[in-house]
Amino acid sequence: MPRKGLSNFDDYDDGFDDDDDAYDYDYDIDIDGPEEEEEEVVVPKEETAKQGLWRCAICTYDNDESMFVCDICGVLRHPVAGNQSINKNTAPFKFDAPSPDDLVTNGLTSTKSGPKGSGDASMRQKEKQESAENNPLKKGGDSSETSSRGRHDKLDNSFSKGGAGGIKSGKRLPKEKTDMSNETSSSSKYMESSERLTGTMNKMSLTGETEKSSDIMTIRPKSKSKHKPEEWMLLDKEPDALSQLNLAIVGHVDSGKSTLSGRLLHLLGRISQKQMHKYEKEAKLQGKGSFAYAWALDESAEERERGITMTVAVAYFNSKRHHVVLLDSPGHKDFVPNMIAGATQADAAILVIDASVGAFEAGFDNLKGQTREHARVLRGFGVEQVIVAVNKMDIVGYSKERFDLIKQHVGSFLQTCRFKDSSLTWIPLSAMENQNLVAAPSDNRLSSWYNGPCLLDAVDSVKSPDRDVSKPLLMPICDAVRSTSQGQVSACGKLEAGAVRSGSKIMVMPSGDQGTVRSLERDSQACTIARAGDNVAIALQGIDANQVMAGDVLCHPDFPVSVATHLELMVLVLEGATPILLGSQLEFHVHHAKEAATVVKLVAMLDPKTGQPTKKSPRCLTAKQSAMLEVSLQNPVCVETFSESRALGRVFLRSSGRTVAMGKVTRIIQDS
Ligand code: GTP
Ligand code: MG
Repeated sequence: MPRKGLSNFDDYDDGFDDDDDAYDYDYDIDIDGPEEEEEEVVVPKEETAKQGLWRCAICTYDNDESMFVCDICGVLRHPVAGNQSINKNTAPFKFDAPSPDDLVTNGLTSTKSGPKGSGDASMRQKEKQESAENNPLKKGGDSSETSSRGRHDKLDNSFSKGGAGGIKSGKRLPKEKTDMSNETSSSSKYMESSERLTGTMNKMSLTGETEKSSDIMTIRPKSKSKHKPEEWMLLDKEPDALSQLNLAIVGHVDSGKSTLSGRLLHLLGRISQKQMHKYEKEAKLQGKGSFAYAWALDESAEERERGITMTVAVAYFNSKRHHVVLLDSPGHKDFVPNMIAGATQADAAILVIDASVGAFEAGFDNLKGQTREHARVLRGFGVEQVIVAVNKMDIVGYSKERFDLIKQHVGSFLQTCRFKDSSLTWIPLSAMENQNLVAAPSDNRLSSWYNGPCLLDAVDSVKSPDRDVSKPLLMPICDAVRSTSQGQVSACGKLEAGAVRSGSKIMVMPSGDQGTVRSLERDSQACTIARAGDNVAIALQGIDANQVMAGDVLCHPDFPVSVATHLELMVLVLEGATPILLGSQLEFHVHHAKEAATVVKLVAMLDPKTGQPTKKSPRCLTAKQSAMLEVSLQNPVCVETFSESRALGRVFLRSSGRTVAMGKVTRIIQDS
């Protein structure tokens, strides 16, 4: 049976060669220089409404006096002007009702079975135990427990309780924090001109030109010397070795992602016949016979009962060229943050589309469907190669017309997201009827008109990205597994840069704790060295187990990652988003960290075609606008400018369960 353990998922795209000639112009905004004609920020005027009501300046809805934000569009009643301290002017950050994101736990499943994302305490306990059983630290008979989701649970609680201060309450600033170094800048080359806003978004997220500035301070000790990789760190040059490919499976809810994944694993021998019979029997007993294959991935009781994936399931298989780490993501809109957690790790993706009439249309709907949001998120994270699997072709009689129509619609949309045609592969298939998965279709209705590659061949044709092995170690932690009896901890995640082996010195940020690597596990197997691109569980020695949490970053002690609370971002506001104002309070997502954020400055609106600032200090940002803005985070997060590290510089802003903006970190601001 495929191992779904966290220690084995792998990720994303840092090595992508974003050499699009497209991203080619200079883009300068003198953020902190003297602003000659800086416009005064205009606070939206509150029109008079009936007594006991206040009228929203943006949507003109008459809200009850007791409302702090507009009931319709979520705009603050009294946004804060200028650089005043937000806290003095606005009520403390509070979600009155839990956001849909509060339901979301850490995005990746870390256990073979047991509930994922269930709020039930006993279920969680069971999950912890099971995770502990899979923990390499357990071998010596320790009583281990996992802190999987430890921080995210805390975050979720904090968010729902409105206690932002409770978020990461146990965190400390780095011990060696403060040689202030000047680096990077708001002035950067980025983005190519484009007619399309979605294109702009992708350009923003994919360009990585060096940013230079003298006014940027980061909480980072200066490195005494340039990082010199040791010989063992560099890649083995075994010609026949399989390359690691982290493949995210995304798409609208119920499009068949888990069924497709389960079927693929079964066909490739990763799920035994016996196990499959068990799934079938159990699924039938619960009246969910059609979900038998999906059950291989949807392991928690809640997922099975609801018939939806809630957290990213991780499985493995080998193709001719790749060792594939499959990341089966949830499609339901409530679990987009979990999907994002999977997408941060993807080198390439399979975008699953339900071909059946009505289902495709619903999934592709601009507001209610997730197809577009998932595609944008993928591109935002730098994923370039996508296999579009048009599934459930059996339901439409393997109709070529239907396939062509879907290809036409989705294809034009993907173009607007700046996916290149040459990086897209279109595969009509049926996961249920096993058509076109690992062999050419046998059903004449499909084979009569389709003679392209099957899904497995398409996966084989995906290029695995170059990895940053020669850079200093960087590993965002998506899970921490603790051994209570010995106080040991294993950090799980994908190495974004560098390499580690047993005995390597490491530092955990933001705590600044230092220790050594005790042992390593990759794809559930003990290993001696892990390099960029690998998905590993690293057992740590000499580290306070309580200082390691999901959202932290493991790094080289001489090259600690920046930790910050004040950032300048370049973002694109997504379609359907509520306006972003000065003082807007949002959820800030970066790698596996999530933090409450307040917009403290709307720096400038940008021309989507040229990237040039068109208006300083806009009073509000609405859908499809791109802009520079500053956010203040409630607690420090590990972050880098995008030019420094793509993995740690891509951000998402969410509100009320929706992704409202995405972009990149252009500057880390050191408050005086
Ligand atoms: P989420 O993870 O919740 O987003 O759903 P999913 O995309 O993983 O879908 P899942 O695999 O759970 O399948 C949803 C339903 O679609 C199940 O009832 C499957 O049996 C059905 N299904 C999946 N693939 C096919 C297919 O090729 N043909 C038909 N007819 N049904 C399919
Ligand atoms: Mg699923």
